[in-house]
Amino acid sequence: MPNADLTPYLRDRWSPRVFDPTHELAREDLHLLLEAARWAPSAGNTQRWAFLAGLRGDPTFTEFQTYLSKGNAGWVANVSAVIVVCFQTGAAPEDQETPYLDLAEYDAGQTAAHVTVQAASMGLHVHQFAGFDHQGVAEAFGVPDHWRVATGIGVGRIGDPATSEVHEKDRSGRKPLSEIAYAGTWGTSLG
Ligand SMILES: Cc1cc2nc3c(=O)[nH]c(=O)nc-3n(C[C@H](O)[C@H](O)[C@H](O)COP(=O)(O)O)c2cc1C
Repeated sequence: MPNADLTPYLRDRWSPRVFDPTHELAREDLHLLLEAARWAPSAGNTQRWAFLAGLRGDPTFTEFQTYLSKGNAGWVANVSAVIVVCFQTGAAPEDQETPYLDLAEYDAGQTAAHVTVQAASMGLHVHQFAGFDHQGVAEAFGVPDHWRVATGIGVGRIGDPATSEVHEKDRSGRKPLSEIAYAGTWGTSLG
């Protein structure tokens, strides 16, 4: 279990596979989630990220669904919105210089973290997923060659497992801090 003293937006965050298919996200709320992403920090404030976003049933969401892996197609169908995080990997034709390009993927990950916290504050759950045909999505949506499609973020209201054919996986645990937080030399626990 997470430390009880964590902010509830992090403590109570987890990635469900059962979402309420009757819940609809208002377009303004999708904008708010993207606004949270927009205000993520980035190296040199380069903001080498962009998003494809759709509400369940709209053309973007429906097209994106066709590229989902078998394991994700069932539960993603019930999320209220999907945000696909993309990041820049190369110079645009007009770019003279591309500072911090090597940090673009790191920065894009922070936008996803911002979305999870903002969503939690709105009573929503988020489940990120990489299981889809990235190349297919890039081609279908005209993502430029110097950009890469990273992950999808499913957002919605948590559903009742009893009403779903999708089964929840056990909530994932975490490595203890002693295994991942070091001081002095690598591998020496912070203590
Ligand atoms: C980059 C990334 C890719 C992921 N891909 C998938 C996926 O394809 N399908 C899935 O069900 N969950 C996916 N997940 C969710 C993780 O399995 C989940 O976050 C992890 O087990 C920790 O669980 P928690 O978020 O409930 O704490 C992904 C998460 C991340 C960050």
